[in-house]
Amino acid sequence: MLTSVRDTLMRRVTQRQLIYAAVVFFVICTLYFAAGPSRGTGRWDVSPSLLGSDTPPEVWKARAEQVKQAFRHAYGGYERHAIPHDELRPLTNLTKDNFNGWGVTLFDSLDTMILMGLNDEFARALPIVEQADFIPSPHVTNSHRGYAPFFETVIRYLGGLLSAYALSREPLLLQRADDLGRLLSPAFNTPSGFPAFGVNTANGETVGPTVGILAEIASCQMEYTYLALATGKKAHFDKAEGVMNNLRRANVSTRGGMFPRRWSLQSGRPTDDVLSVGAAADSAHEYLLKMYLMTAQSDKSSYEMYIRTTNHILTNLMYLTDARELLYVTDVATPTFSPSHRFEHLSCFLPGLLALGADQLDLSLDVLDPRTLGDEERRSYELLKHYDLRQLHRWAAEGLTTACYLMYADQPSGLAPDEVQMQPAPGFPPRGRQRNRVGGKRWIDAMEEWRKYGRRGAPPGVGDRRPVQFTDQEQKNMKLRSARTNERGYSLKRTDYLLRPETLESIYLMYRTTGDPVWRERGWQIFEALERECKTPSGYASIENVLRSPAPQADDMPSYFLAETLKYLYLMFHERDLVPLDRWVFNTEAHPLPVFTWSAWERSKFGIPEPSS
Ligand SMILES: *[C@@H]1O[C@H](CO)[C@@H](O)[C@H](O)[C@H]1NC(C)=O
Ligand SMILES: *[C@@H]1O[C@H](CO)[C@@H](O)[C@H](O)[C@H]1NC(C)=O
Repeated sequence: MLTSVRDTLMRRVTQRQLIYAAVVFFVICTLYFAAGPSRGTGRWDVSPSLLGSDTPPEVWKARAEQVKQAFRHAYGGYERHAIPHDELRPLTNLTKDNFNGWGVTLFDSLDTMILMGLNDEFARALPIVEQADFIPSPHVTNSHRGYAPFFETVIRYLGGLLSAYALSREPLLLQRADDLGRLLSPAFNTPSGFPAFGVNTANGETVGPTVGILAEIASCQMEYTYLALATGKKAHFDKAEGVMNNLRRANVSTRGGMFPRRWSLQSGRPTDDVLSVGAAADSAHEYLLKMYLMTAQSDKSSYEMYIRTTNHILTNLMYLTDARELLYVTDVATPTFSPSHRFEHLSCFLPGLLALGADQLDLSLDVLDPRTLGDEERRSYELLKHYDLRQLHRWAAEGLTTACYLMYADQPSGLAPDEVQMQPAPGFPPRGRQRNRVGGKRWIDAMEEWRKYGRRGAPPGVGDRRPVQFTDQEQKNMKLRSARTNERGYSLKRTDYLLRPETLESIYLMYRTTGDPVWRERGWQIFEALERECKTPSGYASIENVLRSPAPQADDMPSYFLAETLKYLYLMFHERDLVPLDRWVFNTEAHPLPVFTWSAWERSKFGIPEPSS
């Protein structure tokens, strides 16, 4: 009896152990096949996510509604305390006139109001749009006093008016866009046709150095081209075309086919050797693809420039960190192509752009004639020949967006620093033989290893990574903190978060182009951090130090927070796709403009050649 009880007991234990062992085996197998080295047969499939998502549709609906309330809160505070000044100071309820003093927050917010169905706010805004004189305001307190900074005025005011017009068909908005486009146009009276830095809209005088910054001279073509379409005026078209012609003519063969940061407004030629997708360059690269998409793929030269640019980015500007193998994009200086390994929040628009291009176009090297390529460009071309270009862009997009998201998820505040210094994996310097850390590990070199060893597992830098968060103790103790920093793969160069949109923009585009709900969940995490850390009684504040929670706030609410950050969040959570990517193209301030085809008459009137294909 006693024996038999013990036997039964033993048997039970053995059974339990067996079941336990079976469960463990099953879990290991699942993990192995979900995330392990058997993945990556070359399909663009969604990487297994650490977050997962089974959030039901009604919750997404409620979340979209919460973003709308956040917009009403921010815009309501602006209306109450700041209108018609440019921006609200969300801590003191004072105002700021930093972009002409015509009410930049209002102009930048118009299309977001339409998309969110905020008709009362929109109706209240129209009389102010009607009355704006577009003459330099004496209230302007910063260095832009007495003239309108061309680039910012185009992307925020003109882009805002045109997009709101395209979405609402309210004639007043086109009228005012036409007025503003005309008043700004003396900026193009330079020998090259690249716009000057600023223009006094009262008398047409221009200001600024004779050397222009790439982003500022080559991010107005979408706005002026759509303005030409909507008004039928050739004068507007010619402004955009002048800029495009300079870019088409530029010989950047010594710069790997990519446009550098500085250009002469006299000759229309590049004057420096720094290649970047961050500050001072970003949106110029963006407009190459977007001009092609907006004109229903009619301008092949724009597409060709986009492929040449991204070829160089993929092969020379993208690196991997040692810890966590994070994929990032940095800037390099020719002729040595030495990288700085800085990674800017501003650069986080790039993965969204790559995802958009790969979603809308069957990307291929075929658009290039190898005989026309310089040495550096040919090197990139030869490397990329081994890949399906479209898939490579998608992998780059996924890896970069993941790194951009982790910059948020790693911090106690849940918000990302404006700039970090990456710690590259040791690699080969671009022109030498020895392994070296300063040169760092280029993504393309790691991809080549991956390819040559049979494409096992996810491509380098692609797939999920865990956040590395500091404990409270590490947070307070510098020594403990720096020890853990190496696990992250980067250190902070700046600690502020300026309510910037770029990461949410890319998360939005990743969600729309892959359909993977994990991106939406990540967007929601960031929205929760915004609500927790940035909200004030009258709006939302920038953050001085993302390493603390509650984070110390700064007295600023940039207009792009309403134009871009909240818009992308709303579109991400909304049940319907309100801005289908095959019918609309966002300008660099997140103002959607419609995709259109030139009519035969418009081609004739504006002098546009017939499409070649
Ligand atoms: C700013 O205005 C809000 C209402 O919009 C109010 O609750 C808050 O106390 C004001 N803050 C200051 C510093 O006056
Ligand atoms: C561009 O410049 C390079 C180097 O200066 C030169 O070798 C090449 O012929 C130029 N290409 C064109 C099309 O002018």
